[in-house]
Amino acid sequence: MARITASVYTSHVPAIGAAIDLKKTGEDYWKPVFKGYEFSKQWLKTEKPDVIFLVFNDHATAFSLDLIPTFAIGTAAEYTPADEGWGPRPVPQVIGHPKLAGHIAQSVIQDDFDLTIVNKMDVDHGLTVPLSLMCGEPQTWPCPVIPFAVNVVQYPAPSGRRCYMLGQAIGRAIRSYDEDLNVQIWGTGGMSHQLQGPRAGLINREWDNAFLDQLIADPDALSRKPHIDYVREAGSEGIELVMWLIARGAMSDVSGGAKPKVAHRFYHVPASNTAVGHLILENA
Ligand code: DHB
Ligand code: FE
Repeated sequence: MARITASVYTSHVPAIGAAIDLKKTGEDYWKPVFKGYEFSKQWLKTEKPDVIFLVFNDHATAFSLDLIPTFAIGTAAEYTPADEGWGPRPVPQVIGHPKLAGHIAQSVIQDDFDLTIVNKMDVDHGLTVPLSLMCGEPQTWPCPVIPFAVNVVQYPAPSGRRCYMLGQAIGRAIRSYDEDLNVQIWGTGGMSHQLQGPRAGLINREWDNAFLDQLIADPDALSRKPHIDYVREAGSEGIELVMWLIARGAMSDVSGGAKPKVAHRFYHVPASNTAVGHLILENA
């Protein structure tokens, strides 16, 4: 059967992708950001996942106000890095896993979570920047990726509670797949940031670190945090953090297993307008 061996959490910022693509990672501003991912790149090479289930948000790139799926699972064979206005990032094509994605769609939808099925989607910085941070600049990404897009751009966004319970259903789906696969689930976006209005530039270190503490120790309580707390404390774009609860919900301890091991934790400000948070949890 397929196993979920670990979950990875990381912020995404378009400027991080630009820093990599334009060879600026050695600059003083960026050095401390990339230092926080050195362990992670080595770790990923050792862990060798067969598939990454990557929870991310589209930023009005593949979707728009014309069509706003709350939860969308990518079942395609491949996904092209999107042109977000400066040409597509020079990163590898993202190879999907239609068979496992189809199984997860079947299982999760029959488990009462309605998903949109996506057979064609260009993937923006929400997906490619976490891959770059964790993998560096390879010729091909290390394994197939199942993109799972969450609407956190246009209200109403799903609650943390719904995301956490969906993560549990995704965990059940993956663990019932009849093939011996090492699967990782990644939750991305966040941490505190606000890109608009009078509070643009808002960062809240204390709140972010309390979020990381609670994500590790008590995700059930964290999942009950209302939207207004995210927006007030972590800024309008801080709501991206609900996606981390999907990955956390899929970990073994949530369904009665042992607590995960914290393999790595990192936090850094600034990176563009965003506080960068990063966590690796290994299932026992
Ligand atoms: C920034 C952060 C984001 O999450 C995003 O989608 C776009 C920009 C930023 O910090 O600049
Ligand atoms: Fe974003």
